[in-house]
Amino acid sequence: MAAPSDLKAAAKSAAGNAYVPYSDFPVGAALRTADGRIFSGCNVENRSYPLGMCGERTAIGTAASAGVRPGEIVELVVFMPGTNLFSPCGGCRQVIAEFMPADGKIWATNDGEGQREWTANDLLPDGFSFDGLS
Ligand code: THU
Repeated sequence: MAAPSDLKAAAKSAAGNAYVPYSDFPVGAALRTADGRIFSGCNVENRSYPLGMCGERTAIGTAASAGVRPGEIVELVVFMPGTNLFSPCGGCRQVIAEFMPADGKIWATNDGEGQREWTANDLLPDGFSFDGLS
């Protein structure tokens, strides 16, 4: 399935606000909630490199700040420059697993026609959970 065009447009627009003086690799992300709301975010780097925020986590954090709760994010589109279609980093995979259902859809896109698509479970199979805590 093609990445939803409205989310791709929102992710591309968010990438335009990326703060990337260190990597020069602007990433935007846009997500849809089960009740139809859209939130977006971009990567925000820092001179202390490990403190940089990825676009995916900024978008999810923005949604969470508006009251979106785990399981309510059903689609997430990431937009990146050039012909790149990288998969989300490990940290973002953990945050995606927190807020998207296992069958939630994630797409990597760019200005071309190519795309990659995963479910949240594809990105973090058998992830840590307190389910079944004894
Ligand atoms: N980045 C993202 O925003 N999302 C990812 O999934 C991987 C990488 C950002 C982090 C950093 O600002 C830049 O891309 C280069 O790693």
